[in-house]
Amino acid sequence: MISLSFAPALSKSKAAASGIALFVADDKRLPASDVLAPHARFLNHALANSGFTGKKGETLSLVNPESSPTYYLVIGLGAARSVKEIHIEEAGGHALAAALAAKLAGLDIVAALPKGVRAEAADAAARIGFGAQLRSYRFDKYKTKEKEEDKPKLARVAIVTPASAKAQKLAEKFTVLAESIAFTRDLVSEPANVLYPESFAAECRKLSKLGVKVEVLGVAELKKLGMHMLLGVGQGSVKDSQVVVMQYYGGRKGAKPVALVGKGVCFDTGGISIKPANGMEEMKFDMGGAATVTGTIRALAARHAKVNVIGVIGLVENMPDGNAQRPGDVVTSMSGQTVEVLNTDAEGRLVLGDCLWYAVERFQPQCIVDLATLTGAILVALGSTTAGLFSNNDKLCAELNRASAHTQEKIWRLPMGPEFDEMINSDIADIQNISNGREAGSITAAQFLQRFIKDETPWAHLDIAGTAWTKKATALTPKGAVGWGVRLLTEWLENDHKAA
Ligand code: BES
Ligand code: MN
Ligand code: ZN
Repeated sequence: MISLSFAPALSKSKAAASGIALFVADDKRLPASDVLAPHARFLNHALANSGFTGKKGETLSLVNPESSPTYYLVIGLGAARSVKEIHIEEAGGHALAAALAAKLAGLDIVAALPKGVRAEAADAAARIGFGAQLRSYRFDKYKTKEKEEDKPKLARVAIVTPASAKAQKLAEKFTVLAESIAFTRDLVSEPANVLYPESFAAECRKLSKLGVKVEVLGVAELKKLGMHMLLGVGQGSVKDSQVVVMQYYGGRKGAKPVALVGKGVCFDTGGISIKPANGMEEMKFDMGGAATVTGTIRALAARHAKVNVIGVIGLVENMPDGNAQRPGDVVTSMSGQTVEVLNTDAEGRLVLGDCLWYAVERFQPQCIVDLATLTGAILVALGSTTAGLFSNNDKLCAELNRASAHTQEKIWRLPMGPEFDEMINSDIADIQNISNGREAGSITAAQFLQRFIKDETPWAHLDIAGTAWTKKATALTPKGAVGWGVRLLTEWLENDHKAA
Protein backbone atom coordinates (compact mmCIF):
# COMPACT_ATOMS: atom_id res chain seq x y z
CA MET A 1 0.00 0.00 0.00
CA ILE A 2 1.34 3.44 -0.91
CA SER A 3 1.97 6.06 1.73
CA LEU A 4 0.34 9.42 1.24
CA SER A 5 1.18 13.01 1.96
CA PHE A 6 -1.08 16.06 1.95
CA ALA A 7 0.13 19.43 0.69
CA PRO A 8 -1.33 22.80 -0.26
CA ALA A 9 0.76 23.07 -3.45
CA LEU A 10 1.93 20.83 -6.27
CA SER A 11 5.21 19.07 -5.63
CA LYS A 12 8.35 20.67 -7.01
CA SER A 13 9.53 17.41 -8.55
CA LYS A 14 10.75 17.90 -12.10
CA ALA A 15 10.98 14.17 -12.74
CA ALA A 16 9.72 13.33 -16.19
CA ALA A 17 7.55 10.49 -14.89
CA SER A 18 5.39 12.48 -12.55
CA GLY A 19 1.87 13.67 -13.10
CA ILE A 20 -1.18 15.52 -11.90
CA ALA A 21 -4.58 13.89 -11.49
CA LEU A 22 -7.71 16.04 -11.43
CA PHE A 23 -11.46 15.47 -11.34
CA VAL A 24 -13.96 16.71 -13.90
CA ALA A 25 -17.73 16.22 -13.95
CA ASP A 26 -19.84 15.72 -17.06
CA ASP A 27 -19.99 19.48 -17.72
CA LYS A 28 -16.28 19.17 -18.62
CA ARG A 29 -15.38 22.30 -16.63
CA LEU A 30 -12.16 22.46 -14.63
CA PRO A 31 -12.61 22.67 -10.86
CA ALA A 32 -11.72 26.06 -9.38
CA SER A 33 -8.20 25.68 -8.00
CA ASP A 34 -5.16 27.94 -7.78
CA VAL A 35 -2.82 25.06 -8.42
CA LEU A 36 -4.56 24.21 -11.70
CA ALA A 37 -4.55 27.80 -12.98
CA PRO A 38 -1.16 27.59 -14.74
CA HIS A 39 -2.36 24.42 -16.51
CA ALA A 40 -5.86 25.62 -17.36
CA ARG A 41 -5.23 26.71 -20.95
CA PHE A 42 -3.83 23.35 -21.98
CA LEU A 43 -6.42 21.36 -20.04
CA ASN A 44 -9.40 23.35 -21.32
CA HIS A 45 -8.13 22.94 -24.85
CA ALA A 46 -7.78 19.19 -24.36
CA LEU A 47 -11.24 18.88 -22.77
CA ALA A 48 -12.83 20.82 -25.60
CA ASN A 49 -11.08 18.80 -28.31
CA SER A 50 -11.24 15.22 -27.07
CA GLY A 51 -13.96 12.62 -26.84
CA PHE A 52 -13.81 12.75 -23.02
CA THR A 53 -17.35 13.03 -21.65
CA GLY A 54 -16.64 13.16 -17.92
CA LYS A 55 -18.70 10.11 -17.12
CA LYS A 56 -17.97 8.32 -13.87
CA GLY A 57 -14.66 6.45 -13.93
CA GLU A 58 -13.65 7.62 -17.41
CA THR A 59 -9.96 8.53 -17.63
CA LEU A 60 -8.24 10.88 -20.05
CA SER A 61 -4.44 10.69 -20.06
CA LEU A 62 -2.66 13.69 -21.53
CA VAL A 63 0.94 14.66 -22.11
CA ASN A 64 2.04 18.25 -22.44
CA PRO A 65 5.71 18.47 -23.49
CA GLU A 66 5.82 22.11 -22.49
CA SER A 67 4.73 21.71 -18.90
CA SER A 68 6.23 20.19 -15.81
CA PRO A 69 5.04 17.72 -14.83
CA THR A 70 4.21 16.42 -18.25
CA TYR A 71 1.38 14.03 -17.44
CA TYR A 72 -2.23 14.83 -16.66
CA LEU A 73 -4.79 12.25 -15.68
CA VAL A 74 -8.32 13.62 -15.92
CA ILE A 75 -10.81 11.45 -14.01
CA GLY A 76 -14.53 11.65 -14.75
CA LEU A 77 -17.00 12.08 -11.89
CA GLY A 78 -20.31 11.92 -13.77
CA ALA A 79 -23.09 14.33 -12.84
CA ALA A 80 -21.75 16.69 -10.17
CA ARG A 81 -24.96 16.71 -8.15
CA SER A 82 -25.06 12.93 -7.73
CA VAL A 83 -21.48 12.63 -6.42
CA LYS A 84 -21.52 11.06 -2.96
CA GLU A 85 -18.72 10.30 -0.49
CA ILE A 86 -18.15 6.83 -1.90
CA HIS A 87 -17.79 8.26 -5.43
CA ILE A 88 -15.10 10.63 -4.20
CA GLU A 89 -13.22 7.64 -2.77
CA GLU A 90 -13.69 5.76 -6.04
CA ALA A 91 -12.33 8.73 -7.97
CA GLY A 92 -9.17 8.51 -5.83
CA GLY A 93 -8.97 4.80 -6.73
CA HIS A 94 -9.35 5.56 -10.45
CA ALA A 95 -6.60 8.22 -10.26
CA LEU A 96 -4.24 5.74 -8.63
CA ALA A 97 -5.04 3.04 -11.20
CA ALA A 98 -4.41 5.47 -14.06
CA ALA A 99 -1.07 6.51 -12.54
CA LEU A 100 0.00 2.87 -12.22
CA ALA A 101 -1.04 2.18 -15.81
CA ALA A 102 0.98 5.21 -16.99
CA LYS A 103 3.98 3.90 -14.97
CA LEU A 104 4.30 7.24 -13.20
CA ALA A 105 6.84 7.59 -10.40
CA GLY A 106 5.09 10.46 -8.66
CA LEU A 107 1.53 11.73 -8.56
CA ASP A 108 -0.14 14.87 -7.26
CA ILE A 109 -3.89 14.40 -6.94
CA VAL A 110 -5.62 17.77 -7.00
CA ALA A 111 -8.48 17.33 -4.55
CA ALA A 112 -10.47 20.35 -5.76
CA LEU A 113 -13.90 19.12 -6.87
CA PRO A 114 -16.04 20.52 -9.67
CA LYS A 115 -18.81 23.05 -9.06
CA GLY A 116 -22.01 21.37 -7.89
CA VAL A 117 -20.32 18.58 -5.88
CA ARG A 118 -21.39 18.76 -2.26
CA ALA A 119 -18.33 17.96 -0.19
CA GLU A 120 -16.19 19.50 2.50
CA ALA A 121 -12.63 20.13 1.26
CA ALA A 122 -10.64 18.29 3.94
CA ASP A 123 -13.02 15.34 4.07
CA ALA A 124 -12.98 15.00 0.29
CA ALA A 125 -9.17 15.09 0.21
CA ALA A 126 -8.92 12.41 2.90
CA ARG A 127 -11.42 10.21 1.03
CA ILE A 128 -9.51 10.61 -2.23
CA GLY A 129 -6.40 9.46 -0.40
CA PHE A 130 -8.28 6.51 1.12
CA GLY A 131 -9.48 5.40 -2.32
CA ALA A 132 -5.94 5.64 -3.66
CA GLN A 133 -4.60 3.57 -0.74
CA LEU A 134 -7.19 0.83 -1.24
CA ARG A 135 -6.57 0.60 -4.96
CA SER A 136 -2.78 0.56 -4.55
CA TYR A 137 -2.86 -2.82 -2.76
CA ARG A 138 -0.80 -5.55 -4.39
CA PHE A 139 -0.05 -9.13 -3.37
CA ASP A 140 3.27 -9.60 -5.13
CA LYS A 141 5.52 -11.21 -2.53
CA TYR A 142 5.89 -14.39 -4.58
CA LYS A 143 6.78 -12.65 -7.84
CA THR A 144 10.56 -12.97 -8.03
CA LYS A 145 10.98 -12.51 -11.76
CA GLU A 146 8.70 -9.60 -12.57
CA LYS A 147 10.19 -7.56 -15.40
CA GLU A 148 11.46 -4.15 -14.39
CA GLU A 149 9.02 -2.44 -16.77
CA ASP A 150 6.05 -4.31 -15.25
CA LYS A 151 6.78 -3.30 -11.67
CA PRO A 152 4.77 -0.40 -10.25
CA LYS A 153 6.93 2.70 -10.14
CA LEU A 154 4.70 4.92 -8.06
CA ALA A 155 6.78 6.03 -5.07
CA ARG A 156 5.19 9.37 -4.19
CA VAL A 157 1.50 10.27 -3.96
CA ALA A 158 0.42 13.65 -2.63
CA ILE A 159 -3.11 14.89 -2.20
CA VAL A 160 -3.15 18.60 -2.99
CA THR A 161 -5.66 20.67 -1.01
CA PRO A 162 -5.69 24.04 0.73
CA ALA A 163 -7.03 22.16 3.78
CA SER A 164 -3.97 19.89 3.90
CA ALA A 165 -3.42 19.98 7.67
CA LYS A 166 -7.02 19.06 8.46
CA ALA A 167 -7.10 16.44 5.70
CA GLN A 168 -3.92 14.85 7.03
CA LYS A 169 -5.54 14.54 10.46
CA LEU A 170 -8.72 12.99 9.02
CA ALA A 171 -6.62 10.62 6.94
CA GLU A 172 -5.13 8.97 10.02
CA LYS A 173 -8.34 7.02 10.72
CA PHE A 174 -8.79 6.15 7.06
CA THR A 175 -5.21 4.91 6.87
CA VAL A 176 -5.75 2.54 9.81
CA LEU A 177 -8.84 1.18 8.06
CA ALA A 178 -7.00 0.80 4.74
CA GLU A 179 -4.17 -1.05 6.52
CA SER A 180 -6.67 -3.37 8.21
CA ILE A 181 -8.36 -4.10 4.89
CA ALA A 182 -4.92 -4.81 3.40
CA PHE A 183 -4.21 -7.16 6.34
CA THR A 184 -7.43 -9.05 5.58
CA ARG A 185 -6.61 -9.14 1.86
CA ASP A 186 -3.16 -10.55 2.65
CA LEU A 187 -4.67 -13.35 4.76
CA VAL A 188 -7.15 -14.21 2.00
CA SER A 189 -4.49 -14.11 -0.74
CA GLU A 190 -1.96 -16.34 1.00
CA PRO A 191 -1.91 -19.87 -0.38
CA ALA A 192 -2.98 -22.68 1.91
CA ASN A 193 0.51 -24.18 2.22
CA VAL A 194 1.56 -20.94 3.90
CA LEU A 195 -1.62 -19.97 5.73
CA TYR A 196 -3.02 -22.93 7.66
CA PRO A 197 -4.68 -22.98 11.09
CA GLU A 198 -1.49 -22.57 13.14
CA SER A 199 0.08 -19.91 10.94
CA PHE A 200 -3.24 -18.03 10.77
CA ALA A 201 -3.38 -18.11 14.58
CA ALA A 202 0.16 -16.70 14.67
CA GLU A 203 -1.07 -13.74 12.58
CA CYS A 204 -3.87 -13.19 15.11
CA ARG A 205 -1.38 -13.17 17.97
CA LYS A 206 0.19 -10.07 16.40
CA LEU A 207 -2.94 -8.11 17.40
CA SER A 208 -1.90 -8.31 21.05
CA LYS A 209 0.39 -5.31 20.54
CA LEU A 210 -2.77 -3.29 19.81
CA GLY A 211 -4.29 -4.24 23.15
CA VAL A 212 -6.26 -7.24 21.91
CA LYS A 213 -6.26 -10.30 24.17
CA VAL A 214 -5.60 -13.30 21.94
CA GLU A 215 -6.10 -16.93 23.02
CA VAL A 216 -5.48 -19.92 20.79
CA LEU A 217 -7.32 -23.16 21.56
CA GLY A 218 -5.68 -26.32 20.22
CA VAL A 219 -7.12 -29.75 19.51
CA ALA A 220 -6.86 -30.98 23.11
CA GLU A 221 -8.80 -27.98 24.45
CA LEU A 222 -11.38 -28.20 21.67
CA LYS A 223 -11.95 -31.87 22.57
CA LYS A 224 -12.39 -30.93 26.20
CA LEU A 225 -14.93 -28.27 25.21
CA GLY A 226 -16.82 -30.85 23.15
CA MET A 227 -16.39 -29.14 19.77
CA HIS A 228 -16.57 -32.46 17.92
CA MET A 229 -18.56 -30.97 15.05
CA LEU A 230 -15.70 -28.57 14.24
CA LEU A 231 -13.01 -31.18 14.93
CA GLY A 232 -14.69 -33.65 12.54
CA VAL A 233 -14.06 -31.26 9.65
CA GLY A 234 -10.33 -30.98 10.40
CA GLN A 235 -9.69 -34.63 11.24
CA GLY A 236 -8.62 -35.56 7.71
CA SER A 237 -5.88 -32.94 7.68
CA VAL A 238 -2.33 -33.21 8.98
CA LYS A 239 -2.75 -29.60 10.14
CA ASP A 240 -4.27 -29.29 13.61
CA SER A 241 -7.51 -27.35 13.93
CA GLN A 242 -7.46 -24.19 16.03
CA VAL A 243 -10.01 -21.79 17.44
CA VAL A 244 -8.76 -18.26 18.07
CA VAL A 245 -10.52 -16.01 20.58
CA MET A 246 -9.78 -12.27 20.38
CA GLN A 247 -11.07 -9.75 22.91
CA TYR A 248 -10.95 -5.99 22.58
CA TYR A 249 -12.56 -3.89 25.30
CA GLY A 250 -12.62 -0.21 24.35
CA GLY A 251 -16.18 0.50 25.50
CA ARG A 252 -17.99 0.97 28.76
CA LYS A 253 -16.67 -1.20 31.56
CA GLY A 254 -18.94 -4.16 32.22
CA ALA A 255 -20.96 -3.67 29.00
CA LYS A 256 -21.61 -6.96 27.23
CA PRO A 257 -19.49 -7.37 24.10
CA VAL A 258 -20.61 -7.78 20.53
CA ALA A 259 -19.44 -11.14 19.17
CA LEU A 260 -18.03 -11.62 15.68
CA VAL A 261 -17.60 -15.18 14.42
CA GLY A 262 -15.76 -16.21 11.26
CA LYS A 263 -15.48 -19.29 9.07
CA GLY A 264 -11.79 -20.07 8.71
CA VAL A 265 -11.54 -23.05 6.38
CA CYS A 266 -7.95 -22.53 5.29
CA PHE A 267 -8.52 -24.87 2.38
CA ASP A 268 -11.73 -26.57 1.30
CA THR A 269 -11.18 -29.63 -0.90
CA GLY A 270 -14.70 -30.75 -0.02
CA GLY A 271 -13.25 -33.65 1.97
CA ILE A 272 -14.49 -37.11 0.94
CA SER A 273 -17.37 -35.37 -0.91
CA ILE A 274 -14.51 -33.97 -2.97
CA LYS A 275 -14.85 -30.94 -5.24
CA PRO A 276 -14.02 -31.06 -8.96
CA ALA A 277 -10.37 -30.22 -9.77
CA ASN A 278 -11.32 -27.29 -11.97
CA GLY A 279 -11.24 -24.12 -9.88
CA MET A 280 -10.50 -25.89 -6.60
CA GLU A 281 -7.52 -23.55 -6.06
CA GLU A 282 -10.03 -20.77 -5.33
CA MET A 283 -10.88 -22.52 -2.08
CA LYS A 284 -7.84 -21.00 -0.37
CA PHE A 285 -10.20 -18.06 0.20
CA ASP A 286 -12.59 -20.15 2.29
CA MET A 287 -11.19 -18.50 5.42
CA GLY A 288 -12.46 -15.10 4.23
CA GLY A 289 -14.96 -14.76 7.07
CA ALA A 290 -12.26 -15.36 9.68
CA ALA A 291 -9.95 -12.89 7.90
CA THR A 292 -12.65 -10.21 7.95
CA VAL A 293 -13.32 -10.74 11.66
CA THR A 294 -9.58 -10.47 12.38
CA GLY A 295 -9.16 -7.36 10.21
CA THR A 296 -12.17 -5.70 11.82
CA ILE A 297 -10.83 -6.27 15.32
CA ARG A 298 -7.48 -4.89 14.18
CA ALA A 299 -9.17 -1.75 12.81
CA LEU A 300 -11.28 -1.21 15.94
CA ALA A 301 -8.33 -1.67 18.28
CA ALA A 302 -5.99 0.53 16.25
CA ARG A 303 -8.67 3.25 16.06
CA HIS A 304 -9.32 2.95 19.81
CA ALA A 305 -13.01 2.44 19.07
CA LYS A 306 -15.27 2.77 22.09
CA VAL A 307 -16.78 -0.70 21.81
CA ASN A 308 -16.40 -4.06 23.47
CA VAL A 309 -16.01 -6.76 20.88
CA ILE A 310 -14.89 -10.35 20.86
CA GLY A 311 -13.95 -12.44 17.84
CA VAL A 312 -14.10 -16.23 17.56
CA ILE A 313 -12.70 -17.84 14.44
CA GLY A 314 -12.75 -21.54 13.64
CA LEU A 315 -9.60 -22.51 11.71
CA VAL A 316 -9.55 -25.90 9.99
CA GLU A 317 -8.46 -27.56 6.76
CA ASN A 318 -11.03 -29.75 4.98
CA MET A 319 -9.07 -32.66 3.45
CA PRO A 320 -9.81 -36.22 2.26
CA ASP A 321 -7.60 -38.76 4.00
CA GLY A 322 -7.66 -42.16 5.68
CA ASN A 323 -8.79 -40.44 8.84
CA ALA A 324 -11.23 -38.04 7.18
CA GLN A 325 -14.87 -37.75 8.16
CA ARG A 326 -17.17 -39.88 5.96
CA PRO A 327 -20.56 -38.98 4.50
CA GLY A 328 -23.09 -40.43 6.94
CA ASP A 329 -20.95 -39.94 10.04
CA VAL A 330 -22.79 -38.60 13.09
CA VAL A 331 -21.02 -36.10 15.34
CA THR A 332 -22.05 -34.50 18.61
CA SER A 333 -21.73 -30.72 18.66
CA MET A 334 -20.71 -28.66 21.68
CA SER A 335 -24.38 -27.78 22.12
CA GLY A 336 -25.18 -31.49 22.60
CA GLN A 337 -27.20 -31.66 19.37
CA THR A 338 -26.20 -34.52 17.06
CA VAL A 339 -25.51 -33.91 13.39
CA GLU A 340 -25.53 -36.35 10.50
CA VAL A 341 -22.85 -35.24 8.03
CA LEU A 342 -24.41 -36.18 4.69
CA ASN A 343 -21.98 -34.11 2.66
CA THR A 344 -18.47 -33.35 3.91
CA ASP A 345 -18.33 -30.34 1.58
CA ALA A 346 -20.99 -28.56 3.65
CA GLU A 347 -18.28 -28.05 6.28
CA GLY A 348 -18.47 -24.34 7.02
CA ARG A 349 -21.71 -24.67 8.96
CA LEU A 350 -20.17 -27.47 11.05
CA VAL A 351 -17.28 -25.22 12.01
CA LEU A 352 -19.47 -22.19 12.67
CA GLY A 353 -22.12 -24.03 14.68
CA ASP A 354 -19.61 -24.91 17.39
CA CYS A 355 -18.02 -21.43 17.30
CA LEU A 356 -21.41 -19.67 17.61
CA TRP A 357 -22.37 -21.87 20.54
CA TYR A 358 -19.02 -21.32 22.25
CA ALA A 359 -19.13 -17.52 21.77
CA VAL A 360 -22.60 -17.24 23.31
CA GLU A 361 -21.93 -19.66 26.19
CA ARG A 362 -18.72 -17.97 27.20
CA PHE A 363 -19.42 -14.28 26.59
CA GLN A 364 -23.23 -13.84 26.65
CA PRO A 365 -22.81 -11.21 23.92
CA GLN A 366 -25.44 -8.50 23.35
CA CYS A 367 -25.57 -9.67 19.74
CA ILE A 368 -23.61 -11.94 17.41
CA VAL A 369 -22.69 -11.57 13.74
CA ASP A 370 -21.00 -14.29 11.72
CA LEU A 371 -19.30 -14.06 8.34
CA ALA A 372 -18.64 -17.01 6.06
CA THR A 373 -17.90 -17.97 2.48
CA LEU A 374 -20.68 -20.45 3.11
CA THR A 375 -22.51 -21.35 -0.09
CA GLY A 376 -22.02 -21.31 -3.85
CA ALA A 377 -25.79 -20.74 -3.99
CA ILE A 378 -25.41 -17.17 -2.71
CA LEU A 379 -23.49 -16.35 -5.91
CA VAL A 380 -26.41 -17.67 -7.93
CA ALA A 381 -28.86 -15.56 -5.93
CA LEU A 382 -26.98 -12.28 -5.42
CA GLY A 383 -23.89 -12.30 -7.63
CA SER A 384 -20.51 -11.02 -6.56
CA THR A 385 -21.25 -7.51 -5.28
CA THR A 386 -23.93 -8.15 -2.64
CA ALA A 387 -23.60 -10.37 0.42
CA GLY A 388 -26.52 -12.39 1.78
CA LEU A 389 -27.93 -11.33 5.15
CA PHE A 390 -29.87 -13.76 7.34
CA SER A 391 -31.09 -12.84 10.79
CA ASN A 392 -33.52 -13.41 13.64
CA ASN A 393 -33.66 -9.71 14.53
CA ASP A 394 -35.05 -6.75 12.55
CA LYS A 395 -33.29 -4.09 14.64
CA LEU A 396 -29.88 -5.66 14.06
CA CYS A 397 -30.65 -5.81 10.32
CA ALA A 398 -31.63 -2.13 10.33
CA GLU A 399 -28.30 -1.20 11.94
CA LEU A 400 -26.34 -3.28 9.45
CA ASN A 401 -28.33 -1.78 6.56
CA ARG A 402 -27.48 1.71 7.77
CA ALA A 403 -23.77 0.88 7.93
CA SER A 404 -24.03 -0.73 4.51
CA ALA A 405 -25.56 2.42 3.00
CA HIS A 406 -22.61 4.46 4.29
CA THR A 407 -19.93 2.09 3.08
CA GLN A 408 -21.51 0.72 -0.08
CA GLU A 409 -20.63 -2.81 0.95
CA LYS A 410 -24.01 -4.09 -0.13
CA ILE A 411 -26.12 -6.62 1.73
CA TRP A 412 -29.54 -8.11 1.03
CA ARG A 413 -31.71 -9.93 3.51
CA LEU A 414 -33.14 -13.30 2.55
CA PRO A 415 -36.00 -15.07 4.32
CA MET A 416 -35.81 -17.73 7.00
CA GLY A 417 -38.58 -19.77 8.59
CA PRO A 418 -39.91 -23.13 9.72
CA GLU A 419 -40.60 -24.33 6.16
CA PHE A 420 -36.87 -24.07 5.48
CA ASP A 421 -35.83 -25.28 8.91
CA GLU A 422 -37.64 -28.60 8.56
CA MET A 423 -35.59 -29.36 5.44
CA ILE A 424 -32.57 -30.17 7.64
CA ASN A 425 -34.24 -32.61 10.03
CA SER A 426 -32.30 -35.88 9.96
CA ASP A 427 -33.79 -39.38 9.97
CA ILE A 428 -31.28 -40.67 12.52
CA ALA A 429 -29.86 -37.59 14.29
CA ASP A 430 -31.11 -34.15 15.39
CA ILE A 431 -29.95 -32.31 12.28
CA GLN A 432 -28.47 -33.17 8.90
CA ASN A 433 -25.89 -30.83 7.38
CA ILE A 434 -27.54 -30.51 3.95
CA SER A 435 -31.11 -30.65 2.77
CA ASN A 436 -32.18 -33.42 0.42
CA GLY A 437 -32.62 -31.23 -2.65
CA ARG A 438 -30.86 -28.26 -4.22
CA GLU A 439 -33.52 -25.69 -3.35
CA ALA A 440 -32.82 -22.65 -1.17
CA GLY A 441 -29.24 -23.75 -0.49
CA SER A 442 -28.09 -20.52 1.16
CA ILE A 443 -31.18 -20.41 3.36
CA THR A 444 -30.93 -23.99 4.59
CA ALA A 445 -27.27 -23.28 5.45
CA ALA A 446 -28.41 -20.28 7.51
CA GLN A 447 -31.12 -22.42 9.15
CA PHE A 448 -28.42 -24.86 10.16
CA LEU A 449 -26.50 -22.05 11.88
CA GLN A 450 -29.66 -20.86 13.62
CA ARG A 451 -29.99 -24.23 15.31
CA PHE A 452 -26.98 -23.14 17.35
CA ILE A 453 -28.42 -19.74 18.33
CA LYS A 454 -30.95 -19.24 21.11
CA ASP A 455 -33.99 -17.13 20.15
CA GLU A 456 -33.16 -14.37 22.61
CA THR A 457 -29.73 -13.69 21.10
CA PRO A 458 -29.87 -11.16 18.23
CA TRP A 459 -27.95 -12.84 15.43
CA ALA A 460 -27.03 -12.04 11.85
CA HIS A 461 -25.21 -14.22 9.33
CA LEU A 462 -23.46 -12.73 6.29
CA ASP A 463 -22.80 -15.15 3.44
CA ILE A 464 -19.77 -13.61 1.68
CA ALA A 465 -18.99 -16.43 -0.77
CA GLY A 466 -19.73 -14.01 -3.63
CA THR A 467 -18.13 -10.86 -2.29
CA ALA A 468 -14.86 -11.96 -0.67
CA TRP A 469 -13.03 -12.29 -3.98
CA THR A 470 -13.29 -10.26 -7.19
CA LYS A 471 -12.38 -11.65 -10.61
CA LYS A 472 -11.88 -8.16 -12.01
CA ALA A 473 -10.52 -4.93 -10.59
CA THR A 474 -13.02 -2.35 -9.32
CA ALA A 475 -12.41 1.28 -8.37
CA LEU A 476 -11.28 0.41 -4.85
CA THR A 477 -10.06 -3.16 -5.24
CA PRO A 478 -7.49 -4.74 -7.51
CA LYS A 479 -8.40 -8.17 -8.85
CA GLY A 480 -8.37 -10.76 -6.05
CA ALA A 481 -9.09 -10.52 -2.33
CA VAL A 482 -11.56 -7.75 -1.44
CA GLY A 483 -11.32 -7.57 2.34
CA TRP A 484 -15.11 -7.39 2.19
CA GLY A 485 -16.87 -6.49 5.42
CA VAL A 486 -14.02 -4.91 7.39
CA ARG A 487 -15.37 -1.49 6.55
CA LEU A 488 -19.02 -2.41 7.04
CA LEU A 489 -18.44 -3.92 10.49
CA THR A 490 -16.09 -1.15 11.62
CA GLU A 491 -18.60 1.49 10.53
CA TRP A 492 -21.45 -0.42 12.19
CA LEU A 493 -19.68 -0.79 15.52
CA GLU A 494 -18.31 2.76 15.59
CA ASN A 495 -21.40 4.64 14.38
CA ASP A 496 -24.55 2.63 13.87
CA HIS A 497 -24.66 0.15 16.70
CA LYS A 498 -26.85 1.07 19.64
CA ALA A 499 -26.03 -1.13 22.58
CA ALA A 500 -29.03 -3.13 23.76
N1 BES B 1 -16.76 -23.01 0.65
C1 BES B 1 -17.87 -23.55 -0.02
C2 BES B 1 -18.81 -22.48 -0.58
C3 BES B 1 -18.34 -21.78 -1.83
C4 BES B 1 -18.58 -22.34 -3.07
C5 BES B 1 -17.73 -20.57 -1.76
C6 BES B 1 -18.18 -21.69 -4.21
C7 BES B 1 -17.34 -19.90 -2.90
C8 BES B 1 -17.56 -20.47 -4.13
C9 BES B 1 -18.69 -24.41 0.94
O1 BES B 1 -17.97 -25.06 1.92
C10 BES B 1 -19.36 -25.46 0.12
O2 BES B 1 -18.67 -26.28 -0.43
N2 BES B 1 -20.69 -25.41 0.04
C11 BES B 1 -21.42 -26.32 -0.75
C12 BES B 1 -22.63 -26.75 0.04
C13 BES B 1 -23.36 -27.92 -0.55
C14 BES B 1 -22.53 -29.17 -0.43
C15 BES B 1 -24.68 -28.07 0.18
C16 BES B 1 -21.83 -25.62 -2.05
O3 BES B 1 -22.11 -24.41 -2.01
O4 BES B 1 -21.81 -26.27 -3.09
MN1 MN C 1 -17.24 -26.95 1.27
ZN1 ZN D 1 -16.22 -24.20 2.45
